[in-house]
Amino acid sequence: MSDVLPPEAEKATSVRAMFDLIAPHYDTLNRWLSLRLDQYWRRKTIRSVNVCDDDRVLDLACGTGDLSELAAATGARVIGIDFARNMLIGATRRRISATFIQADANALPLPTAAVSVVLSGFALRNFVSIPHTLQEAARVLKPGGRLALLEVDTPRPTLLKWGHSFYFQRIVPLLGGLISDRKSYLYLPRSVVYLPEEAELLQMVRAADFERVVKTRLSGGVAQLITAVRR
Ligand SMILES: C[S@@+](CC[C@H](N)C(=O)[O-])C[C@H]1O[C@@H](n2cnc3c(N)ncnc32)[C@H](O)[C@@H]1O
Repeated sequence: MSDVLPPEAEKATSVRAMFDLIAPHYDTLNRWLSLRLDQYWRRKTIRSVNVCDDDRVLDLACGTGDLSELAAATGARVIGIDFARNMLIGATRRRISATFIQADANALPLPTAAVSVVLSGFALRNFVSIPHTLQEAARVLKPGGRLALLEVDTPRPTLLKWGHSFYFQRIVPLLGGLISDRKSYLYLPRSVVYLPEEAELLQMVRAADFERVVKTRLSGGVAQLITAVRR
């Protein structure tokens, strides 16, 4: 285990502390390091599940509220949940028309079948147990409700894979370290190892009682969008 990847028993505590630490510069660095592609991907995420004003949306691990803001702009009623207090403070400061709650994605403070859409941006690899979190997302979704999971990915073409790896593993920690916390910006790229292989991840979504599971590669495969429908 690399020194920037915490042991499983400490992962939740360590991830929460890390996001509390980097929250002040999180949005700025996200925009810079992704060359502003992050917001383009988030808009695609909202469109992929046709979020509209009839929806009640859960933004799971909402961070500073980027997806919540885009979902709320459609007129949907939005709840953002995250366990890192400082990320939620960032979300609240943006005066988004949404309700933000500090809670663990593994024990959502929502009744069964409470929402029609669950969104999650760049959070999967931070969860201790992806299957468990998906089951909890399925519990709060109505039957027929839509799920959209946005995450980083590893591109397949060799040259792109090499360039992406150099940028993600070398440049991101360097720039992140200059403006924010270097150890955190070492963790963020390395935490892709927590993402299961494509087939296994899609199977986890199906096993959590979702159907019509579709993965879309974004921007040459540097990001992925998984959509599904609650059975
Ligand atoms: C990379 S950030 C993504 C934030 C936001 N979704 C976005 O699109 O920018 C990952 C977020 O997941 C949150 N997180 C990780 N594990 C969590 C859990 N078990 N419960 C709630 N939030 C969690 C972190 O606190 C952090 O805000």
